[in-house]
Amino acid sequence: MGSQCSLSVARVLIGIRRCPSLVIAVVLGSVMAGKLVSAADLASPHATTNLSEMMTRIVQPSSDAVFYVARTPPQTDEDWRRLENQTLMLAESANLLLLPGYVQAQEQWLRDSLLMRNAAVAAYKAAQNKDLAALEELNNALYESCENCHMATR
Ligand code: HEC
Repeated sequence: MGSQCSLSVARVLIGIRRCPSLVIAVVLGSVMAGKLVSAADLASPHATTNLSEMMTRIVQPSSDAVFYVARTPPQTDEDWRRLENQTLMLAESANLLLLPGYVQAQEQWLRDSLLMRNAAVAAYKAAQNKDLAALEELNNALYESCENCHMATR
C-alpha cells in the first residue's frame, strides 16, 4: 500500500513535468475562481499602477542601466545578461505606456513611446552583441524620447 502510494505520487510528478501547460491551466482556473480576474479585466487589459510609479519603478531603473553604462561597463557574461534583461524590460515598458490607464490621447505620446521602444530594442540588441560603443550612442535617442514626452505632457 505504501509503495503503491509513493508510486502514484511519482506518477503525478512526472505528469506535471511532462505537461506544464496543464498545471498553468489549473492555476489560472483557480485564480479566476478566486475572483482575482474580473470580467472588466478580461474585456480590456489596463494599467496596474499610476504613471508616476511606472516611471520611477520600471522606466527609470531600466533606462539608468543604459544612461550610465559607461560608468561601470559590463564585464562578465552575467553583467551583460543583466543588461539584456534591463533593456528588454525598458522596451516592453514603452509598449505598456500605450495601455489604458497610462496612455494620453495625443499623437506625441505615441511617437515618443515608439521612439523609446525602438531605442530600447536597439540597446537590447547592442547588449546581446556586447557592444558598449553602440549602447553609448543610443543614449541620445533614448534621452530624447523621455525629454520630448515630458516637455509635452507633464
Ligand atoms: C510617452 C510619454 C513618456 C515617456 C516616453 C517617458 N515619460 Fe517619464 N513621465 C511621463 C509623464 C506623463 C510623467 C508624469 C507622471 C505623473 O506625475 O503623474 C512622467 C514622469 C516621470 C518621472 C517622475 C516620476 C515621479 O512621480 O517622480 C520620471 C523619473 C520619469 N518620468 C522618467 C522617465 C525616463 C527616464 C524616460 C525615458 C527612458 C521617460 N520617463 C519616458 C511620460 C513619459
